Order: sequence, then structure tokens, then C-alpha cells
Amino acid sequence: MIVFEHVGFAYPGAAAPALDDVSVSVSPGQVLALLGPNGSGKSTLARLGNGLLVPSAGVVRVDGMDTADEDTVWDVRSRVGFIQQNPENQIVGTLAEEDVAFGPENLGVPSDELRVRVDDALAAVGLSGFQRREPHLLSEGQKQRLAIAGALAMRPSYLIADEPTAMLDPVGRRDVLGALRDLRRRGVGILHVTHHLADVVDADEVVVLRNGRIAYQGTPKALMADPGHARTLAVEVPPEAELADALRRGGVPVPAGASTPEAIAESVWHS
Ligand SMILES: Nc1ncnc2c1ncn2[C@@H]1O[C@H](COP(=O)(O)OP(=O)(O)O)[C@@H](O)[C@H]1O
Ligand SMILES: [Mg+2]
Repeated sequence: MIVFEHVGFAYPGAAAPALDDVSVSVSPGQVLALLGPNGSGKSTLARLGNGLLVPSAGVVRVDGMDTADEDTVWDVRSRVGFIQQNPENQIVGTLAEEDVAFGPENLGVPSDELRVRVDDALAAVGLSGFQRREPHLLSEGQKQRLAIAGALAMRPSYLIADEPTAMLDPVGRRDVLGALRDLRRRGVGILHVTHHLADVVDADEVVVLRNGRIAYQGTPKALMADPGHARTLAVEVPPEAELADALRRGGVPVPAGASTPEAIAESVWHS
């Protein structure tokens, strides 16, 4: 488990702390969705999750290891994969297979096992057969899935994804979300930073940050059922949730579970 306990973080010279008294956790096979406006502290929390930053207050533990403990920092980094917004910035190899092999190679994984890890990781993100392709010729969505494969080749227990779909078109976004769903099914714990509640409707928990503090902690369903509240948190709800809310306010009894256009149409039909 990744546990953030009363975590605070201040960048040197900053007037206000980027994070203040934040307690959340990410369990294996679960998705914690992290939302909030720009500057609310999402990326800072993400970087604290794998020891890229260490907290100024409180503690972050990865499977019991304090991320501030220098003796275990490499163990922490190998357990927690990290992918960021811009897939371009994450390409390190001239061929897809070199790119994916980069991390485990640095860990000293022997070459026969490396082959297996690279092939498995590419398969896991739907890029089987892409071994000899040049990363810079891939679509943005494919590049992002390649980055996820690179993280997976380290065989991490957790993946932190900081706005992984922000720069993608709808197809790339769908494919990356699909790859993240598969990882969760394999037992990887995921911290998914996003602006779109629609990306994380099946997350186990949603945390919304505002000015470095937790402004909401609950389920995606509860937040979607109350688009007015979501708006005050600067969270973008899926259009279906907006529609259901507008209908309810107009007197149509749309049930809380109706989250697809079909289910909403059904309740209008029967009202
Ligand atoms: N490297 C940095 N140095 C100083 N301040 C920073 C740095 N990175 C982020 N900040 C500040 O910390 C706060 C939180 O930023 P960040 O975690 O990037 O938020 P988010 O990812 O939600 O947009 C913001 O006020 C931002 O300006
Ligand atoms: Mg950010």
C-alpha cells in the first residue's frame, strides 16, 4: 500500500505550501483518482508517491518503507511506476523494445528475462508486435501506452499516472484508459491524476484537492450524483451526469444508477 499520512510539502521560497495535511492511500488492485484545479497540488502529491519528492511534514510509506529513507529509495522507485502527461518526454529508446527495456536493464535484469519482460509489457498495453517500431512514429496514444509498458517492465506494484490522457485524442484516451483498467485487473494499485471525472467513474475513491488540501473524499458515484457540488470543486462531470441532474431538477425521476444515455432515456420514457 502507498500511504500518505498527514503529508505537507512546501517548495523552497514558496509563500504557501503546495500540500497541507493530506492523508490518502493507494491499495493493490485499487484506483485512487486525484482531481482538482491547476495548482491544487496534484502533481506534487504524485511525485511524493514514488519518492521523487519527500514530504516536508508527515510521512509517505510504500509497502511500509518510508520514502525519505535513502536506504530503500531504489526499492520504492522500482515498486512505483510513474507516467506523466506528455508522452514525448518519456521516450528514451530509438526502438519500442529498447524504450521498454531501459528501466529493467538499469536494474540489471539479465537479457533473457529482459526479453520476456519487454514482450509481456508490450502485450499488456496492446502493443504486441511493436518491438521494432520507432517510438517517435507512433500516435500520441500509442506513445503513452509505450510509456506505461516501460513502467510495467519494472514489474511495479503501483502506477502513478499524472494526467496521462491530457494530451491525447479520444481514441488515444480510450486506449490508455483501457490499458490502466487491465493493470488494475492484474492487481496493480493506481493513482490516477485527471481533470475528467469521466476518466475515473469506476475508481474506488476520488479525492479532490484545492489549495493543497483535501476538499472532497468519496466515491465517483456520489460526486456524479451531485454535479452542482462537483462544479464548486472545479470538477468536470461527464455530460451524462449533467443531463441526469438537469432532468431531475426538471422533475423527471432519473434513478441514481442511471449513468448511460440509454438508461437516462429509459427513465424519461417511463416518467
Ligand atoms: N518546482 C516548483 N517550484 C515552486 N513551486 C512549485 C513547483 N511546482 C509546483 N509549484 C507550486 O506548487 C503548487 C502545486 O502545484 P502542482 O502540484 O503542480 O499542482 P497541480 O498538479 O494540481 O496543477 C502550485 O502553487 C505551483 O505553482
Ligand atoms: Mg499537475
